[in-house]
Amino acid sequence: MPKENQELVLVIDFGGQYNQLIARRVRDSGVYCEIVSYKKNIAEIKAMNPKGIIFTGGPNSAYLEDSPKIAEEIYSWGVPILGICYGSQLISHQLGGVVCKAPEREYGKTLVDLDTTSPMFETLPKQNICWMSHNDYIKEAAPGFKIVASTPNCPVAAAEDAERKLYIVQFHPEVLHTENGIKILSNFVYNVCGCAGTWKMDSFVEETVKALKAKIGDGKVLCALSGGVDSSVCAAMLAKAIGKQLTCVFVDHGLLRKNEREEVCGVFGEGGQFDINFICVDAADRFLGKLAGVCAPEGKRKIIGEEFIRVFEEEGKKIGKVDYLAQGTIYPDVVESGLGGESATIKSHHNVGGLPDFVDFKEIVEPLRDLFKDEVRQAGRELGLPEYLVARQPFPGPGLAIRIIGDVTPEKVAIVQDADAIYREEVDKLPAAERPSQYFAALTNMRSVGVMGDERTYDYAIALRAVTTTDFMTAEVTMLPPETIKTAANRIVNEVKHINRVLFDYTTKPPATIEFE
Ligand code: XMP
Repeated sequence: MPKENQELVLVIDFGGQYNQLIARRVRDSGVYCEIVSYKKNIAEIKAMNPKGIIFTGGPNSAYLEDSPKIAEEIYSWGVPILGICYGSQLISHQLGGVVCKAPEREYGKTLVDLDTTSPMFETLPKQNICWMSHNDYIKEAAPGFKIVASTPNCPVAAAEDAERKLYIVQFHPEVLHTENGIKILSNFVYNVCGCAGTWKMDSFVEETVKALKAKIGDGKVLCALSGGVDSSVCAAMLAKAIGKQLTCVFVDHGLLRKNEREEVCGVFGEGGQFDINFICVDAADRFLGKLAGVCAPEGKRKIIGEEFIRVFEEEGKKIGKVDYLAQGTIYPDVVESGLGGESATIKSHHNVGGLPDFVDFKEIVEPLRDLFKDEVRQAGRELGLPEYLVARQPFPGPGLAIRIIGDVTPEKVAIVQDADAIYREEVDKLPAAERPSQYFAALTNMRSVGVMGDERTYDYAIALRAVTTTDFMTAEVTMLPPETIKTAANRIVNEVKHINRVLFDYTTKPPATIEFE
């Protein structure tokens, strides 16, 4: 929820695939933004007192009876509205324009003629590449609207009714394929909505720390720390707010990446940055013991999940009653667990996976539930966390067990840890913008013949993976520079014992998954 007096732009979600992207862009421009469902009660939307409203795209046809609609009174509030794609068609349809199936479907990068006197297009060129993706189109703009952009196939690519402060664009300014798209959105929030741009991460951190102090008082908080970005930033935020009233439990299941345990303990443990109670549970033998001989991926996952719960149960008993359980839930978890703001009360346990329901606590605290991932990283930097923690790529809860095909042994874990560390070191030499979303080494269970010096070897093949993705539901293969792969491969076979072959995984998701299990 926005803090008191904080200016807010609301994204009303009509089922568009880019709803989160719109909100992120608005926040990036310095204005706090939330996503709510089009089903949300209109009086509640009004009570949120938004400075501006953005309607998202969506897969429906605005002119059909049962397509998502919104109460028309919203158009008379005097609150600026920007309709994108479906949103633009809905506004046009509801206000008396003509929306119908387009004679030509428009899809992809399209050159659009802009009227740059529109406040939306201030400082833009007169012709701009925009991302189009629509089957329907606005044949005639609604009365009162002036057309401010068009293409040969799309007579109303953008229009505005400056008096009622209603603005519509058929294309998607939120996707990067639209040149100057970010500028269009920031023009809307600044030129049209008159926002001042008060959303800054340093003030968010400061205010959240203050609010946590007030809420928790002298209560005790337990935080399960995985070493991932979200739980680390969550712990750091609480550490700053309540110090020794916080206990963090970090379980080393023996399946972490190389040096990961030392890195987490170095920051949160004794002599680290924070004055908290920190428990590092050394449970490697337990987990590896339970995993011995287990080959099936689901079997491994189940064992690890159950063992985690057992470890927490034991630690929980030692700690006794706590007042709050801290969770690193972030805004996409909230949005994805339902449609937009409708989901606000649905709890998702994405981050720590299988939380101990039996820990005796009063309430959950989720200091990051308003933040997008990039903002979480930024908050982490504000809190002084080192870059290797805040910039970390996703790492699955079951750890390296699901990056080793077949049974897991301590030797195999060591092999994959070493190879993975080398590979990451080489990829990390690339400029940040060129690095994949996720990249790691996995141990195939395949052994083959090789030659080392005068000797014949019979050793493992390691697989390297590099994918680019925004949602982790689908992924493209990242074409790393050949030199990076070659150097990593050379170093791995030279420096890691029992590897005599390095393979690169060229599979997209689908059909493969990102993990290699
Ligand atoms: P897949 O392999 O399903 O992975 O394509 C998609 C994303 O989810 C991560 N992943 C997990 N994260 N616990 C987690 O916290 C898990 O059990 C888990 N399995 C996969 C994976 O790293 C990728 O980012």
